Amino acid sequence: MIHEIAKIGDPVLRQVATEIPLDEITSDRIQVFINDLIDTMHSASGAGIAANQVSVPWRVFVVEVKDNPRYPYKPDIPLTVIINPEIEFLSDDFFLNYEGCLSVPNLRGAVERCTEIRIQGLDRSGSAIDIVARGLTAGTFQHEYDHLQGILFPDRVKDTRTLCTWDEFEKYHESAFRKQAGDIVAKYGS
Ligand code: NI
Repeated sequence: MIHEIAKIGDPVLRQVATEIPLDEITSDRIQVFINDLIDTMHSASGAGIAANQVSVPWRVFVVEVKDNPRYPYKPDIPLTVIINPEIEFLSDDFFLNYEGCLSVPNLRGAVERCTEIRIQGLDRSGSAIDIVARGLTAGTFQHEYDHLQGILFPDRVKDTRTLCTWDEFEKYHESAFRKQAGDIVAKYGS
């Protein structure tokens, strides 16, 4: 089932999401919900989606990047479901990531993201997951983790003059950012 996506201003996006109890992970209720979350991400061409974006404040998000039309410069990420994630910042270096969000329609802005992170949590079968991600891929994981903390990307935009609509991004900022994104991919491998 495709869920409706909550938009900025909806209090559910500002809630800190609740851990999913271990013994519930393999329940039909959670498994069907995870399928719905994946279907909803696909139908909106998202690079990721967190449960509270469909008004269910549980600690789970999914990411997948494969020839994404919204973010053509992003390296591929295989479909990954992460339940009850913990994040660790492995570097003091940051890069500027021009982000957008399904819950923040028609807005993009430059956000500082850590260049290397570690995410630990559980997959949809309840097995441990331990991922180290760098560069743009690290940015994607940080964005989704933020959702579970009730944080949206505009909260992290330091220079509000970088905010723009998608059309204006394409017109005025995309070529410069694509070059930067290429440099980040070259440096960090993702
Ligand atoms: Ni988002």
